[in-house]
Amino acid sequence: MRASKTAMPFVERPEGETLIVLGAGAVDRLRALLVRVRATRAYVVTGSTLATGSVGDRVRRALGDALVGTYAGSRPHVPDKTVDELVQDARSRRADVLVGLGGGSPIGTAKAAAFRLFESRDAASPAAIVAAIPTTYSGSEVTPFFGTTDLDQGRKSVLRSDPVRPRLALYDPELALDTPADLTASTGVNALAHCVEALYAKGATDADRSMSLRAAGRLIGDLPLAVREPRTLLYRYRLFEGSMEAGLVLAKVGMGVHHGLCHVLGGRYRAPHGVLNGIILPHAMRFNLPVAGAVYRDLARPLRLEARGADVGEKVCDAVADLVRALSLPTRLRLLGIPKTDLPSVAEAALSSRSVQANPRPVTREGALEILEAAW
Ligand SMILES: [Fe+2]
Repeated sequence: MRASKTAMPFVERPEGETLIVLGAGAVDRLRALLVRVRATRAYVVTGSTLATGSVGDRVRRALGDALVGTYAGSRPHVPDKTVDELVQDARSRRADVLVGLGGGSPIGTAKAAAFRLFESRDAASPAAIVAAIPTTYSGSEVTPFFGTTDLDQGRKSVLRSDPVRPRLALYDPELALDTPADLTASTGVNALAHCVEALYAKGATDADRSMSLRAAGRLIGDLPLAVREPRTLLYRYRLFEGSMEAGLVLAKVGMGVHHGLCHVLGGRYRAPHGVLNGIILPHAMRFNLPVAGAVYRDLARPLRLEARGADVGEKVCDAVADLVRALSLPTRLRLLGIPKTDLPSVAEAALSSRSVQANPRPVTREGALEILEAAW
């Protein structure tokens, strides 16, 4: 499909402290954009696949001699050890910006390292800001959240730190054309979960909810299309619009039981965050039905459901489960090799998650277990 310029306008706007840039070919302006956020010594943080492929090449070309180093060892769930390595190297190269390139993991690794640099900053080793160039739909590029994982303990900690919120979020749909269909699907469902959690969050305003709904509509409509035709630029562009708004609203209102459970499961079993999102989301939504039924009604239209009747909320939850299945994502925890006998201890651990505690419907140990058993 050919996409006109009007369907994919070049967008450049500040959002709080973050400069947002969205457009085909935007990466070619990277160096000038970093200067605008007052950075000149760029250190790229990515995974091995992107580092050696055409996406990495293009970013390196755009940076020219502003590139002072590359860390290609980012891994899912951001193991503490990778953050140690990155901090040491970025410090020795006097980087003033860590550019997270790729999915939620490299961007999260850049944030975690920037957090350490910020905490220990002094005249000899100054702090570095974060810039992010996403190739998936995790939304991490616009949030102050990041997780790190102690692999020995199997424990993931999620922190919020405003100084590490990226100062530049650069979305170039051309860089996402090679993102595999399964990663597109799983990270897209993660973005949808951000919309859902923002919809039922305690502090959400009408403006937050309408932004969530707009983003959810875009994701629900375009995810199946992008999974079917991964190399269509227009779908990549529109998914970025959706995941950006989903991330922005999540950053404002925070997370609930859905993300709390996904973080505990991710830290313990190292399953991808997006895959866990697909499995848990319909069940977390059902758990929250008693408090969120009215806001789910607004999701009926994008899901192409009749918005009338007393059971719209249930139908919305079922339709989200159908969407996950249609995207060929796993729908059961057991498919990830998680033993059923572990679920009570996962439920127990979830109770100390701040996201679980912030859920609009209070979550007891039994409540958390009910969601996990339904998802097993
Ligand atoms: Fe998420």
